Amino acid sequence: MSELSRRSLLLGGLAVASTGALAACSPQSGIQATPTFGAPTRLSPTPGQRVVERTLAAKPATLDLGGATVDTWAFGDTAPGPLIRATAGDMLRIRVDNQLPADTTVHWHGIALRNEADGVPGLTQNPIATGDSFLYEFTASDPGTYFYHPHVGVQLDRGLYAPLIIDDPREPGDYDLEWILVLDDWVDGTGRTPDDVLSELSAADGNSSEDMGGMDMGGGGMGGGGMGDPPFGDAGDVAYPHYLINGRVPTAPDVLRGKPGQRVRLRIINAGSDTLFTVALGGHRLTITHTDGYAVQPKEADAFYIGMGERYDAIVTLEDGVFPLVATPFGKQGQAMALIRTGAGSPPDPAVHPTELDGQILEATDLQPDEATRLPSRDPDATEMVHLSGQMTPYRWAINGSAYGKNEPIVIDKGDRVRLELMNMTMMTHPMHVHGHTFALPNGLRKDTVLVKPMASLAVDLQADNPGSWMTHCHNIYHAEAGMMIALNYRA
Ligand code: C2O
Ligand code: CU
Repeated sequence: MSELSRRSLLLGGLAVASTGALAACSPQSGIQATPTFGAPTRLSPTPGQRVVERTLAAKPATLDLGGATVDTWAFGDTAPGPLIRATAGDMLRIRVDNQLPADTTVHWHGIALRNEADGVPGLTQNPIATGDSFLYEFTASDPGTYFYHPHVGVQLDRGLYAPLIIDDPREPGDYDLEWILVLDDWVDGTGRTPDDVLSELSAADGNSSEDMGGMDMGGGGMGGGGMGDPPFGDAGDVAYPHYLINGRVPTAPDVLRGKPGQRVRLRIINAGSDTLFTVALGGHRLTITHTDGYAVQPKEADAFYIGMGERYDAIVTLEDGVFPLVATPFGKQGQAMALIRTGAGSPPDPAVHPTELDGQILEATDLQPDEATRLPSRDPDATEMVHLSGQMTPYRWAINGSAYGKNEPIVIDKGDRVRLELMNMTMMTHPMHVHGHTFALPNGLRKDTVLVKPMASLAVDLQADNPGSWMTHCHNIYHAEAGMMIALNYRA
């Protein structure tokens, strides 16, 4: 499908989903005109509120990944793009200049912000056209490790991603150093763009007589070649030529320097589009302290799994020497690596396999919430089904029986405790993300992105305290673009 027709399809779809919130018309009536949004309402700081102002240019860029040079799109001249940092309670005022040859937007992943700054074209704003700007203004209330990325097509799989850190004014700061590690799977500029990858994945459609249609509730399917390894089975469709930490390949890694005995806070962000990683630091155990911004009861592990869109913070006490921080792509070949240097020693082989990777590997469900961040338990006022279906051949993914734009938005009421029943009827793992809220796992653990294993179900509860129209989707960007998204709308 050409870029143009694919995009108009997407916009058509977005238009339908938005109508649930914006107008009282029937979701069955098919493709409709794209709703238009005015300029965002200006937000004034409250008395004493600090304002953090930035300008971001989304533009074509040539990047050196550490030997491999690629033409891509980035926020400025690097990937990851510029760190944005503020303190909880600050107002952010960020102007995005679109210098790309395509429409774009920016989404502030994980931030419970006001709806009109959420960056979803057709749902919260018009796409930003080439040459145009958009002003994002919002208060960032909750501290934590977040990131930002576009919400148009598969642009996330270019170089358009960067960390967003909201500091906690009450953070005890019981560490000497802080390092941000952004993981990514890289294809752009290696002979294919992410749009090419999406076309390749979708090409199977043309050869297949199978029609999943809108209502194939059976799901199932091939999932790329069998069940894969435990515990996630098949967790990605794309074999990438490179896996990166902080924009670098393992043969020319990012080097982080410290002193033996120092305590370091690691903030690890999976900005990959189709890759779940296992993360370990050779010669060290990690103490996991936060996930998706929220504090957990500290838990030690040799390594941990991190899905697309998830974040983990960990504390580590540095040993003396040179150590590999490795992220291995689950079910795929190759790895990402950064180096930690606190003393003398020669760097490890870029293909090093730290023994920690064979140790005890933590999953989100092994964590308990910190008492202060636990979502107080309460019986749900409403339960909504989020039924995930689809397969590789043909490459179609859906929520509640249909692809995004054809599925009916979920409608919730302000003030309710809403239970989302995430039911995975496919042979793949999906990192499911809800915009504008954090939800709680059954034990009260707060997350905004959670891995749902093949053929498994997970109930997550959210407090409906942030009215608007919010995207809910798989953070595998190819699945999302192929339909695995749904709007979550507050009743007007
Ligand atoms: Cu990073 Cu709609 O998400
Ligand atoms: Cu998915």
